[in-house]
Parts: sequence; C-alpha cells; structure tokens
Amino acid sequence: MAWWEREGSAGVSIFDPHLHFDRLRAKRALSGMLNFFIRTLGCQMNVHDSDRVYELLSDAGMCAVSSPEQADVIIVNTCSVRQKAESKLDSELGKLRKLKALRNSPTALVVAGCVARQRGEAMLKRMPFVDVVIGPDNLLSLPNLVKMALRGAPPTVATEWDLDRPTFLRSRPHRDGVSASSFVSISKGCDERCSYCIVPRTRGPERHRSPTEIVSEVRDLVAAGAREIILLGQTVNNYQDPSKELGRRPSHAQSDIAALIRRIAHEVPTLTRLRYTSPHPRFYDGALIEAHRDLPLLCRHVHMPVQSGSDRILKRMIRRHNRQDFLQTIGQLKKVQPELTVSTDIIVGFPTETDEDFEQTLSLIREVPFIGIYAFKYSPRPGTAALRLGDDVSDGMKAERLARVFELSESLMRNHLDRLVGTVQRVLIEEPNPRSDGGLTGHTDRNEIVHLRGDAGLRLGDGVVPLRIVEAYKHSLVGELDPMLTGVPSRIKHRLPIAPSR
Ligand code: 5AD
Ligand code: SF4
Repeated sequence: MAWWEREGSAGVSIFDPHLHFDRLRAKRALSGMLNFFIRTLGCQMNVHDSDRVYELLSDAGMCAVSSPEQADVIIVNTCSVRQKAESKLDSELGKLRKLKALRNSPTALVVAGCVARQRGEAMLKRMPFVDVVIGPDNLLSLPNLVKMALRGAPPTVATEWDLDRPTFLRSRPHRDGVSASSFVSISKGCDERCSYCIVPRTRGPERHRSPTEIVSEVRDLVAAGAREIILLGQTVNNYQDPSKELGRRPSHAQSDIAALIRRIAHEVPTLTRLRYTSPHPRFYDGALIEAHRDLPLLCRHVHMPVQSGSDRILKRMIRRHNRQDFLQTIGQLKKVQPELTVSTDIIVGFPTETDEDFEQTLSLIREVPFIGIYAFKYSPRPGTAALRLGDDVSDGMKAERLARVFELSESLMRNHLDRLVGTVQRVLIEEPNPRSDGGLTGHTDRNEIVHLRGDAGLRLGDGVVPLRIVEAYKHSLVGELDPMLTGVPSRIKHRLPIAPSR
C-alpha cells in the first residue's frame, strides 16, 4: 500500500497523525532540525538524482524521514516518460496539498525531475500550492530554495539546463558505507530523437563528464566498499571524452566508452564488477566488443533497449537501427562472451503497429532470446514527433500485446533459470532479502537474482561469494553456500562443516 493510501485512513482514526506530526515538527523546529521526505518516480537516472538530493539536504543539516507526514520538506522526483507516471504525480500532489493545508507549521513542497522541467512555470499556475519547481540540472540550489520557501518566500522555478559547464553531482560515501552496487553518472541528456520519447526535451542535449572525475568517483566508492559500479548515461555507449584525456581512438571506435572502461579497470584494479546502462544499439563498436572480450570485470549482461522487432516500426520510431543490425551486435557480443545475457525494453502498440509487426517483435524476443524484458504500452507524449502518427492501436489491443510479451518473457526467463539449478554461481551479496527475515539477496554478473538459503553467516559487505543453485523461482534463484568452493570468506569457512575429501 502506498503511503498516501495509508494516509487516507487518518480521518476515521482517533489518533490524528496531522496533529501528532505537527507537534513533533514544532518541537524539532525549536531545535532547528528540519526533516525531509523524498518520493522517487521513474528511471535509474531519477534514483541516482534522488540519492544526490538526499546527500545535499543531509549536508545542509536536514534529516531524512520515511513518510511525508513527518517531513517539513517533501520532494517528489518526477518522471514524464509515460502519461501514467504523470497522472500518478498529479494525484499524489493532490494528496500532498491536503496534507499541507491541514498543517500549522511551514512545509516546503518540491516538484523535481523531468515533469518539473517539462511544465516549468505552468506547474505553478496549475498547482499554486507547490513551493519549488526544480529541474534535474538545478539540484545544487535545492537546499537554499527550500530554506527560502520555509521562510515564506514566493514559489520558485529553476529548470534551466547547465549547457556551458555541466555539473555531475558525485555520490558521497556515507558513514554507514555505500551500497555494494553503485551508479556513477558519465553523461546526461540525449541527442537522439526517437519519435516517441520526451527525454531529450526534459533532460536536454547530451553532455559528458571528464574521465578524471569519473575515475575519481569510482575509486572513492570502491574504497568505501562498493564492489560493482554501473556507469550511467541516457545513451551511455556514445560517451565522448570532453577533455580528450583518453588519447586517440582506434579506427574502429565511434565513442570513448571502451577507452573509459579500460582506464577504470586499470586505475581501480580492486573493482570487481563493471556495468553500463543504457546502451543504444547503434553506438556499439568494435572497441566495446573487444572490451567485453578482454576484461573479466565487465559483466556478462547488457540491457539493450530494442523497442520493436519490426523494421517498419523501428523506422517510424526513428531508432536509426534495424532488426538485422541489432542481431548482428548481439551476435558479436555473444561471440566474445558466449554466456552473456541480454535484457531489453519493448514498446507495444506504437502508432500503425499491425499484428504482423507485433509478431516480428515476438520473433525477435525468441531469436535473441531476451532474458528480462521491460515492456510498455505506447503513450503519446507532448512535443514528440510520433504525435503526428496518431494513436491508432486501441488500449485493449495494447493490453493484449503487452500480456503476450510478458508471457513469452516469463517462459524464456523460467527456462533460463531452470537450467542453472545445480550450477555454482558467483553472487554479489547486496541487500536483505525482502521475502525472508535476516536473509540476503544478490545478483550474478549476468544479472540473475539469487536469494541465499539458510543462515550461512554471510553479511552485507562480503562481496562476491560462490553459491550452489538449489532452486529456481519465476524470476529468481535460491542458492546455498558451499564451503568447499574458493571465494568463501575465511571467517565462514571455519564455521561450516567441511565434507570429508575424497
Ligand atoms: N511510451 C511508452 N514507452 C516509452 N518509453 C519511452 N517513451 C515511451 C512512450 N512514449 C520506454 C522505452 C524506453 C523506456 C525507458 O521507456 O521503452 O526504453
Ligand atoms: Fe529517448 Fe531514444 Fe534518447 Fe533513449 S535514445 S532517451 S529512447 S530519445
């Protein structure tokens, strides 16, 4: 249940949370401490941005809380990639408006992220109870803007892109360590013009970060305990070194992503795993394929959005690759890494998509085969080129096609996971297992989720450990620690009964 649904029960309760939290907040105001709550909608970019907001507000002396009722500053980090996310935002803001109206003490309501950039001033006209509208490139000014809002300043809008001197906010390792797997942003914005996509309008033109800055952030995160780094960018494999530090490219390289990966591998040798997301199929080049061949730290999994299996639709989507190019790239990757898995994004019901086009998408899914699919119903977005094509596939047909993609995806995933039962997989221990008390969960380098069975004495921070796969669920695996395998932490090796050698 979402927090705002729980909040709805307040009216029938003797305990009035608004009053209770108002008193708490009044008490804190006396001690000068402000609380903030962040709600994140949308993609990994937004998750990354929300983490930076958390750090900026913590650095400004504020304290994170787990519900908006407890917060003096409420931030909704928004997504506009599909209409559904935008509608969700509007309904959530309606609820926050009520929460704010019931209060006696100041509250700053912030709309951040892609919708903030997209609507700008218009946001305030529609929703005058919002105090700060802030785009993805303006987060550094957030602590000041919320403090001003709490002092009664009029609403502010800060949504310009930082085109001349792009800033990339660093993750800051916390006192309690960093996650085993951490994102590092290498570029932002997008220069592609996929006809359905609003991102170039909300996140702006593509800008790139210097290799020195990137390597330094990776080094700091690894020193603080991260084992896996995920390089982040909208078209991440089109990375262009802005400072020309990486030297001349080999003739078969279009971008500097491969050189950057090699530099990270060389300069941070203690890094265990490296991933990048999301690549665009048209920016794969020989140098990146060679990096997959040569560097054991580069994970044997890529998430490569394809969107459709029909060349006719890909053309109308202005994807600038076709089915054949895509399959060829996958073929090259699998030639150098035969065990590599590929996941993808699919849009169903793009304007003019026929049954025949959709069958081609299903056949591509089988041919690759994709292990892991994020599929979406096409959603018309303001200002995008695809609006000209109408929205002629009915919602019922979109729902039917979506269900068929999911059904096929589940069966491919199931087959894939079933085949892993009995094998040993190296798993990065990442987080508590949400389904078991005290249990742990992690990922293999091919991105299979593995839950640890039994209290093996492992803990967060143990890094990559070998687990014997004993069961496959629909979307994940169950693994057990095998003390005979190399790579088991010595602390545990001594605790576990060791089978007599034969
Ligand atoms: N409608 C539906 N899905 C979309 N995506 C992007 N724009 C739209 C849209 N207008 C999907 C694409 C992209 C993912 C992040 O969101 O599949 O890869
Ligand atoms: Fe959108 Fe296409 Fe850019 Fe991806 S590559 S962010 S789908 S415009």
